[in-house]
Amino acid sequence: MSVQTATSRDEIPEEISAINLVDTRTYLEHDMDAYWRRLRADHPLYWHPPVDGKPGFWVVSRYADVMALYRDNQRLTSEKGNVLVTLLAGGDSAAGQMLAVTDGRRHKDLRNVMLKAFSPRALSKVAALVRVNARRMIADAVRRGEGDFAAEVASVIPLTTVGGLLGVPVKDHSYLLGLTKSSLSSDEADQAPEEAFLARNEILLYFSDLVAERRADPQDDVISTLTASEIDGVPLTDQDIVFNCYSLILGGDETSRLTMIDSLYTLSREPEQWKRLKEGSVTLESATEEALRWATPAMNFGRTALVDIEMAGGTIKAGDVVTLWNTSANRDESVFDDPYVLDLGRSPNKHITFGYGPHFCLGAYLARVEVKEMLDAMRTFSDGIELTGEPRRIHSNLMAGMSTLPVRFRPDEAGLATADD
Ligand code: HEM
Repeated sequence: MSVQTATSRDEIPEEISAINLVDTRTYLEHDMDAYWRRLRADHPLYWHPPVDGKPGFWVVSRYADVMALYRDNQRLTSEKGNVLVTLLAGGDSAAGQMLAVTDGRRHKDLRNVMLKAFSPRALSKVAALVRVNARRMIADAVRRGEGDFAAEVASVIPLTTVGGLLGVPVKDHSYLLGLTKSSLSSDEADQAPEEAFLARNEILLYFSDLVAERRADPQDDVISTLTASEIDGVPLTDQDIVFNCYSLILGGDETSRLTMIDSLYTLSREPEQWKRLKEGSVTLESATEEALRWATPAMNFGRTALVDIEMAGGTIKAGDVVTLWNTSANRDESVFDDPYVLDLGRSPNKHITFGYGPHFCLGAYLARVEVKEMLDAMRTFSDGIELTGEPRRIHSNLMAGMSTLPVRFRPDEAGLATADD
């Protein structure tokens, strides 16, 4: 384990060393934009000291370095975890079974099996469902005039989407939503880690039952596809399938929900950009990409070094934990012009919101469909959005965003007249 710093520890200024990236409160209490600017400029490979008895870790903040490390699954592994909580605990119990924490040949084979479930046919059905749901839910929300966009729309679309993909019965969606919300982040600063642990276990138990049901009675859904799949002639075990359902529901729910909430919040504060969207002077595709860059709901992912790696003027030692900060890379001024300006027409826009390389997000297409349909329905049915209260931000060292968004919509009557078409 490394005790080195890329730059001598004496040179690390107080405003950097005082920031504790493990503490979920940090993201709510500090000006993190200033912190990331400073790291990119002066400490692109920064050794975050150990806190609360947990090991220290490397913090990589520049776009080019983050990309290079995401791509490198030879010198870095995901099998000791890919998020801070597991990396700092020394491992992930789903390693070698769950796609995101599996490497090498097994990862490739498993990804190919999962990709079958993400075939254009399977996805076109789900994408059509997303459009219908988004239009219906957003038209209803605009007609009501006021409400919490997070609870009424943004919580429902992603879970319905990934639930539909997995074949989770609609009656169970709200139960699962409660569990996914408390397993990755929390509305409260002081949620006990055991609560998140229990929520994660309940999700696993839920999927164990569903896998048993689908083995007995296959349907046209991802779980049934996985139960019928083999790698090298060996069928996937129940545990393999359960872990991957878990990863789809966690990976697919909160990230998309946070992006939608952030997009609406941002549009309510950026009237010029809203006008461009409403008038159609930017494409839905470019607006979607910028919404994704702007939100960057997954702030970071991580790896463990397998060998010594020289980079950015320092040495990552074999065994060290390395964290890759999408949140900083997506604002890197050497890649994005005016990165702190929202520009729905931004082009090129090679954001790193979905990661990069062998573990590139499996659900990126679906997430894009969700955000695009939300923006389309919003510009069709509403003539303007106003905040009616302060949104509540989540507490997490992995995800960023808001869990409530009280808003008022001005209706677009001509658009609403087309809602049931
Ligand atoms: C992987 C972000 C939506 C399923 C990833 C990774 C990122 C990411 C950054 C890379 C993790 C790593 O390198 O360790 C996001 C964001 C989303 C989103 C920002 C929404 C805005 C989804 C959806 C699904 C999904 C909708 C499924 C329906 C997955 C899976 C992986 C993954 C299974 C692991 C892929 C692998 O390891 O090969 N996601 N994701 N994600 N995502 Fe997403």
